[in-house]
Amino acid sequence: MTAGLIETLYAARTARSAELAVRARAVLPSGIVHDSRHLTPHPVYATHAAGAQKWDADGNRYIDYFGGHGALLLGHNPPAVMQAVAAQMAKGTHFAACHEAEIAWAEAIVAMVPSAEKVRFHASGSEATQMALRLARAFTGRDRVLRFHAHYHGWQDDMTAGYASHFNGGTVIGVPAAVAAQTVALDPYEAAGVEAALRTKDFAAVILEPLGACTGKIPLETGFLERLRDWSRAAGTVLIFDEVITGFRVAPGGVQEKTGVIPDLTTLAKIVAGGQPGGAVAGRAEILGGLDFAAAERAGRQKIYHPGTFNAAPASAAAGVATLAAIRGGAPNRAADALAEDLRRGLAGVLAARGVPWHVYGEASAFHLCLAPDLAARPFDPQRLGRAGLQAQPPGLARLLRMAMLVNGVDLSGWPGGLLSAAHTPEDIAETVAAFDASLDLLQEEGML
Ligand SMILES: Cc1ncc(COP(=O)(O)O)c(C=O)c1O
Repeated sequence: MTAGLIETLYAARTARSAELAVRARAVLPSGIVHDSRHLTPHPVYATHAAGAQKWDADGNRYIDYFGGHGALLLGHNPPAVMQAVAAQMAKGTHFAACHEAEIAWAEAIVAMVPSAEKVRFHASGSEATQMALRLARAFTGRDRVLRFHAHYHGWQDDMTAGYASHFNGGTVIGVPAAVAAQTVALDPYEAAGVEAALRTKDFAAVILEPLGACTGKIPLETGFLERLRDWSRAAGTVLIFDEVITGFRVAPGGVQEKTGVIPDLTTLAKIVAGGQPGGAVAGRAEILGGLDFAAAERAGRQKIYHPGTFNAAPASAAAGVATLAAIRGGAPNRAADALAEDLRRGLAGVLAARGVPWHVYGEASAFHLCLAPDLAARPFDPQRLGRAGLQAQPPGLARLLRMAMLVNGVDLSGWPGGLLSAAHTPEDIAETVAAFDASLDLLQEEGML
C-alpha cells in the first residue's frame, strides 16, 4: 500500500526513529515494549522530556498528552521529585531491607485516600489489581469476580477477557479457560443485570474504573457508583475502585474523595509513584489483614504469601513521597483540570467551526475524542452510544489523526485523547488547538473527513 500524505509527512520528519525501529524489530516483538506504542510504519523514539514537552530522536518537539501513561500529573521532571530521587539514588538503590521512606509513603496514602486504612506496595498497577482480587477472594472465601466491559485493570490472566474483546466470556489466548471462567464481564449501562449478578452473592469482588472505562471515555451513569456500593455491601462482595489513573488526579483522594463513595479496596499506581515504577493496594484494615502475619495467626487462617523484589523500591518511595506532598493541597489537580477544560473547549470550537461531527469530552484533567460517525442526534449521550458507539470510528482514522498531530508537534494518546498535567501552559493549549485544526486540514486532504 502506498503511503498517503500524512504518513509521508510523518516519515520525512522521523528518519532517525525509522532507523531505530528497524533495529528494534530485530530483537523486540513488533519493535515495541507496550502495545499502545504500536504505530505503523514506526513509532517515534523519545530522547528527553521537560515540563509538558518531549523530544524525539530527530529533534522534533511534542506537547505531550500521553503523560507517562498517566503517571505525570506534575509534568516531566518536577524539581522536587527529581531531587528526592537523586538524593535517594545516591544513598542506594535497593537495601533488601525495610526503610523509612516506605512508611512515609504509606502514611501519605492513608492521609489522602479516604478508603485507605492500610497499604501494601507493588511494582505496578497490574500487580496491585491482582493482589486486590486475591485479598477479596481470601476475605470472602469466594472465587468469582465481576468486572465491566472495557474497564482496564492490567494485563494479567484474571483481567484480560472483557477489556478489548471477549465481552461475552470465552478465553483469551494464553489464558487457561478455568481462570477466565472465574471472571464475569458485564455492561455497566445494564444496571439491572449488574444488580442481579451481585444478588447471587457468588462474587468475591466487583472491580471498576470509577470514572468509567479508560478514565471516563465510556462514562458511568450518574448514581451508578452509589448503587454499586449498596449492592456490593448487601452481597458481601468487596468493592474495588481501580484508581490507578484517577487516584491523586481527579482529586488528591481520587474519585472516592470527589464522589464520597468509598470502596473497600483501592488500587493505585502511576501518580502514586511519581513517575517511577510502583503500585499499591489500599483499603479496609480487616481485608489487608490477609497479608498480616499476626492477624492470620490470631484468626487461625493461612496468610497470603507476598514477596516482590521491587515492592516500595527506595527510588519509587522517594518519588512517591515527594509527588504526594505536592498534590496534597490539590493545587496541581486544579491547574490541570482548568487547562483541560480550556483544551476541551478549544478542540470543540475547531470541530464546530469546521462542522466535523466528532465529540470532545472528559472530566478532570482527561479529554477524549469520540470519532463515532453516529453523533448526529445531539446532545451527546454516552449511554445511547454505548461502548460500541463511543469506541466506533472509521478504520484507520485514529491512527491517522494521531500521526497528523505528531506531524504538527502534539503527542496524543491513541484512544484518542489524553491527560493534562499541571506543567501544561495556556500557550501549550493554544498551540494544541492550532495543531488540531492543521491536522484536520491534513485529514481532509487525505479524504478522511
Ligand atoms: C485503570 C488501570 N488499572 C491498571 C493498570 C495497570 O497498571 P500497570 O500498567 O502499572 O500494570 C492501568 C494501566 O494503564 C490502568 O490504567
